[in-house]
Formats: sequence, C-alpha cells, structure tokens
Amino acid sequence: MQITKLCKSSTFRLALIYMALFSLSVLLLLGFIYWSTAGYMVRQTEATIEAEVVGLAERYDLSGLSGLSNLISERLSRQTSETSLYLLTDMNFNPILGNLEKWPDAQPSDQGWLSFHIDGASPHAEQRKALAKVFPLQGHFHLLVGRDVHNLAETQNLIREALFWGLIITIVLALAGGIMMSRTMMHKIETINDTCHRIMDGDLTQRIPRSGGDDDFDKLIATLNRMLDQLELLMQGVKQVTNNIAHDLRTPLSRLRRRLDMLRENKITIDRHEELLDQTISEADGLLVTFKALLRISEVESGSRRSGFKNVDIAVLLDDLIEFYEPLSEGKDQTISVERQQIRPLHGDRDLLFQAFANVLDNAIKYTPAGGHIRLSVNDQPDLLQVSIADSGPGIPVSAHEQVFERFYRLETSRSSPGNGLGLSLVAAIVNLHHGQLELSDNCPGLNLRICLPRV
Ligand SMILES: Nc1ncnc2c1ncn2[C@@H]1O[C@H](COP(=O)(O)OP(=O)(O)OP(=O)(O)O)[C@@H](O)[C@H]1O
Ligand SMILES: [Mg+2]
Repeated sequence: MQITKLCKSSTFRLALIYMALFSLSVLLLLGFIYWSTAGYMVRQTEATIEAEVVGLAERYDLSGLSGLSNLISERLSRQTSETSLYLLTDMNFNPILGNLEKWPDAQPSDQGWLSFHIDGASPHAEQRKALAKVFPLQGHFHLLVGRDVHNLAETQNLIREALFWGLIITIVLALAGGIMMSRTMMHKIETINDTCHRIMDGDLTQRIPRSGGDDDFDKLIATLNRMLDQLELLMQGVKQVTNNIAHDLRTPLSRLRRRLDMLRENKITIDRHEELLDQTISEADGLLVTFKALLRISEVESGSRRSGFKNVDIAVLLDDLIEFYEPLSEGKDQTISVERQQIRPLHGDRDLLFQAFANVLDNAIKYTPAGGHIRLSVNDQPDLLQVSIADSGPGIPVSAHEQVFERFYRLETSRSSPGNGLGLSLVAAIVNLHHGQLELSDNCPGLNLRICLPRV
C-alpha cells in the first residue's frame, strides 16, 4: 500500500528521473576516468612496442639477420624481468631466436596486433596475458615483439570493478535519497490534504500546521492559511448579510401581506381600498429599492468595475455634488462650507465616487438637525486624496463605528428617519474598490467621516 502510494507520488517519480540522470552522469564520468587511466596504460604499451618494432626493422635493414639477432639477444640478456617478448621465426614459424617457445596460435589484426596467453614461470603458475605486434621480414622471416601485460590487465580489472561498484553505490544512494525526499514531501502534502478535507467537511476554523521553519513549503502554508482566514471572514460576512437581509426584509414583507389581506375584506370602503393599494405599491417599491441597493453593493464588491477606471476630475465632481445637495440642506436651514485647494484628477470610477460622496453628504444632511452646519474639506497630497465631510449632528458612538458599514445596520436613534441602512455599506464597498480607507471621528459635536483614496 505504502509502496504503491510512493510509486504514484510525483516527487518519487521526479526523484527516479533525477536518479537516472545522475547515474548516467556518473557513468559518463567513470567512463572518462577509465579511458584516461587504464586506456592510457594500454596506449603507452602499444606506443613502446611500436617504437621497438621500428628500431628492430631499421637494424634488420642495415645489418641483416645477424645484426637483428644480435640486437634481440642483447635486449634479452639485459632485461631482468621477463616483460619484453621477442620471437624470430623462419617462414614456417619455426623459432630461431627469442624468449617464446612457439609462435602464438591467435590470429593477428590487420595492423598486426595480437593478444595471447603465455605460460607462467612455474608449471603451476596461471597463464599470463600478452600483447604483441607481428610482422614479416624480407627474406621470409617473421618477427614478434611484445609485452607481458598481465599486471596491466589486472590493474584494468581492478579499475573496472571499482567503477562498477561506484556506480552501484551511486544508484543505491540516489534511490534511498529519492525515497526519503518523497516521503518527507508526501507527509507535508498529506497534512495539507487532511486539513483541506476537514475544512470541506465544514470546519472552517481548521488551519494547516506549520513546521516552524522558513522554507518554501512554510511560506506556501502561511499563504494558504492567510487565504483560509480571508475565506472564513468572507463566509462569516455572507452569513451575516443573509441573516440581516432575512431579518430586515421580513418586516416590510409582513406589512405588505397584511395590507393584501385587508384588501380582500369585503367591508372596506372604496377610498380605504385605494389608500391600501397605494400603500402596498409604495411598500413594494421600497423593497425593490432595497434589492437594487443590495445588488449595487454586490456588483461593486465583485471588483468588475475596476476595469473601467479613468482619470476623474474630483473638483468638478464635488461642484456637481454641492449643487445637487444644496437645495436639500437649504430646506433644513443648514449651511454647507467647502474648504479645498487645487485638486488633481484621481484614477477611479466617476459614478461610484459621486455615489459614495453623495451617500455621506446625504447622511450628514439627514441626521443633522435643522440649522446645523456641514463642512466639506479636501486635502490633496502627492500620494493620497482625503475628503472629509463633517457635520454638527448627533454623531455615531465609537462602539458602532465598525457596525455602521454593515448592511442594514442603523442606530436606534435613526430608526424614525427614512432609510434602510445600506448607504454606508455601499460607501465602504466603493472605497474598497479604490483601495482606499474610511475613518470615522468625533467632530465635537457631530460626525467627521474621512475618505482616504490612494493615487495608485
Ligand atoms: N452623519 C451621521 N450622523 C449620525 N448618524 C449617522 C450619520 N451617518 C450615518 N449615521 C448612522 O449610521 C447608520 C447607517 O447609515 P447608512 O447611510 O448606511 O444607512 P441609512 O442612512 O440609515 O439608510 P440609507 O443610507 O440606506 O438610506 C444610520 O442609520 C445612522 O444611524
Ligand atoms: Mg444613508
């Protein structure tokens, strides 16, 4: 089971490929070492024999058979160990002179090279390997010049064996390393898998345990955990929004149903009938407005509007805003003052930015009592645009600063005024879309709401 799992693991397959490549490289390296050591020794021996052959041939050309025989005898008498081999024969390969008993049976190559075995010094000694070059001499003689290469062959064998075991050890070590690496990787991946399964089973609080190091895997786990935090937060948001929607729409829907029930009664007058119908229609309109606002917030939160960002002239936008809301504030005897310097354009969505400023200004006018004062100030910094809307109304207690941005949240004191608690949720979504921030503070008295938009 464990082995099948191991074989299916991609890390193990990668380790196998790595092992094959590594073994091939080691094989090539060992091959080169063999060629440059054992091969070199053979080439050296061949070169020495060739040189000797040339010397002997020259002597034969100069002094004939007797000169050659003298030279061979002299060389044979000079050598202490029997490593140099000579054999001079007649045309029928009958020995004339040399330290070999008979002409070898082996067939020479085209270049005259011959590999053969000679008997050892003692009767029980093993046969020894020899390498020689043979060639015919004018006058119908044959000459063999060679070397006893037994020691050389032994060394070659030793090198070959060492290289073979070297390769085997490399393969075994690479395989063991591959298995160890794959098991570590598999363990880490299984931990992630387990956590994912527990999360899929519904426990969103689960997080992938970290090993405590600072390697790539740990960084990946940290990112995944942050993603899960985000996901949990989003899920909580969705849950809360669903609850809020269900809770806040139940009241208008019940009212709508009650009115429809009353309409079915036979005893009501025509005028009452008309009145109830009008109320039902306006209740349905109110619900439609709420749904439209909810859809707008979702659309903004999806981020799809970011693709349509353009440079927006904020100065013109604020002029339009004041022009639009002045009649409303004048109707409540409120004054609006504007403080601003030169404002550079900002990259964003004009309609949404207008909507955000409008919602905040609408709140300021709505919740500030008649005769109050509203101040709109702009601070244009190189990397940030700050727009503050401060009023002299009742303000928002610090404990509710976060909640006012939730869908349908309204302060108890505001329940009598029209609205459904979605205005600031839309403002928050729009500011988020522009990567900005919202700050609420006490205007002593009143509320100061600051929108900070970065110039990205
Ligand atoms: N300037 C303000 N002064 C005092 N309270 C405020 C102010 N702005 C907002 N609030 C409080 O925050 C709540 C949420 O505001 P939000 O704009 O989201 O909803 P709303 O104004 O009640 O309804 P909507 O904007 O959807 O018509 C308000 O109900 C109100 O209680
Ligand atoms: Mg509002």
